[in-house]
Amino acid sequence: MIIAIDGPSGAGKSTVSVQVAERLGFSCLDTGAMYRCVAWFAVQEGVALDDVERLGDIALTKPIRFIHEAGNPKPVGVTIDGIEATREIRTAEVDRAVSAVSAVPAVRRALVAQQQAIGAEGDYVVEGRDIGTAVFPDAACKVFLTASDEVRAQRRVEQNRQRGVGSTDYETVLQDILRRDELDSKREASPLAAAADAVTIDSSSMTFQQVVDEICRLAREKME
Ligand code: DC
Repeated sequence: MIIAIDGPSGAGKSTVSVQVAERLGFSCLDTGAMYRCVAWFAVQEGVALDDVERLGDIALTKPIRFIHEAGNPKPVGVTIDGIEATREIRTAEVDRAVSAVSAVPAVRRALVAQQQAIGAEGDYVVEGRDIGTAVFPDAACKVFLTASDEVRAQRRVEQNRQRGVGSTDYETVLQDILRRDELDSKREASPLAAAADAVTIDSSSMTFQQVVDEICRLAREKME
């Protein structure tokens, strides 16, 4: 079974996905991490962000693997082409590059195929921007998770502080989130959008626990 969680940056998708997966005994698939891997690899190789051919080639030929730990639904790391990039993909440099990379149709085609293959292996909570619309349009449970711009920026600052990577300056993070929302929603290839059959949850004034409870309730309804 697939639980699709889409929404803009900083809405709490990662935190909520892990907790939902833990409660239901599912695994997690963070599709944003895959776009980040391609962006990081491209930056390392000095590939221009408008070189769509080379970007598509990286997504198609450099395998991305999640590092799993027994009993943990959330992968503990990720590699691309055998190189660990777990922390590197969370830097401000990758934040700046990733929207351009994820707008390239050939990149999306290659990563969507990998995501569909992973999801076919079992029960997954899959988070991203186009999961309910393009990657798993038949997902049993679809959620579109949002929050106000200010709350999302605040949460991302806190997450970066805890991870010890990425900017912890509120204004910088807010501007990056707004810029990425704009790019992610306006791009031609699978823009950020709620699927027609998704349940929208605005988490601005909810605790993560309340959001997790609500998604588990929706998922259990579908499992019956
Ligand atoms: O969730 P995130 O912030 O780690 O995602 C990084 C970028 O990847 C985000 O700016 C949009 C893109 N993305 C996408 O286009 N489609 C997805 N399914 C997941 C992420």
